[in-house]
This record gives sequence, structure tokens and C-alpha cells, in this order.
Amino acid sequence: MTESGKYSVLFVCLGNICRSPAAQAVLQRMVDERGLSDRFYIDSAGTGGWHIGALPDKRMRVHARPRGYELTHHARKVQASDFEDFGMIVGMDAANVDDLRHLAATIEQQDKVVMMGDYIRQFPHYDHVPDPYYEGSEGFELVLDLLEDACDNLLNRIIEQNNIQQ
Ligand code: 4NP
Repeated sequence: MTESGKYSVLFVCLGNICRSPAAQAVLQRMVDERGLSDRFYIDSAGTGGWHIGALPDKRMRVHARPRGYELTHHARKVQASDFEDFGMIVGMDAANVDDLRHLAATIEQQDKVVMMGDYIRQFPHYDHVPDPYYEGSEGFELVLDLLEDACDNLLNRIIEQNNIQQ
């Protein structure tokens, strides 16, 4: 929970142009649909800085749109203040989680870092959200399938643990 009383979630991948901005949009819509928009602050960032300022990858936007997600985030890099500002920092794969734990300044900050794969339920063969950047269309669809599954569980977990009334 932030000082403003909001539950804050930061999704993190490598480039912040494929997986994490999609995760941000998926969770944001779930929060909006449950009437919890005022209670959450959701953002995304990358561990790498190559695409700073860019919109999400065109392929990610093209695959997200038919599912009703407009991806309008502009890429940014993870910064030290994120570890203070966010209650939960969610890495998409083991490398993201490893990088984030190294960037954390304290044990408390390290403890905010979780793995998106731990929230995947319907796809038991996946323990992470794979990087689609060098993949074809099916890679982007898979990312969206995994994110919709994981975000649903993530949101339910936050609601239960904090006794949030919907
Ligand atoms: P993302 O995908 O981490 O899901 O945003 C990538 C985007 C760009 C690069 C790698 C992964 N890249 O190497 O530029």
C-alpha cells in the first residue's frame, strides 16, 4: 500500500515494450471492471533502457487490441525510487527477478519482488512469461494468455490478503 492508500503494482520485463506494458493493461482492466480503479496504481518498467520513451512493440499492440487492450504506456527503465514507491514489483521471468533483487537496496525492498510465473495456474508447463521479442504471432498470443491467467490470480490474492471490499 502506498502513502496515498493505493495498492501499487509495478510489472517489469527486459525492454518494457512487450510483456510488462501488456501486463499493466490486463491488470488495469480487471481492476476497472471490479470497480477498484481508485484503490490501485499500476505501472510498468524495464530492466534495460534501449526503448525508453517508446510505445509498446507494434506486434504486442496488434495482438492486444482484439482482446480490448489499448497499450499506451511509454517505456521507462526501473529506477531506485520504484522500490520505495511500489508495494509489489513483479518480474516476468527469472532474469528479471534476479536483476530486480540485485537492484533492491534493502531486504525489505527485495521482498517486494515476486515472479509472475508463480501466479500462472491454467498453463502448468509455464513457470514464467517468455520473452516474445524474437518469436512469431503465437509468442505474443501466449504472452497474453499467460498474463490474463496470472493477473486474475494476482488480483484475487491481493484482494484476499488485504480484505478489500469490492
Ligand atoms: P519485453 O521484450 O522484455 O517483453 O519488453 C523485449 C523487448 C526488447 C528487447 C528484448 C525483449 N530487446 O532486446 O530490445
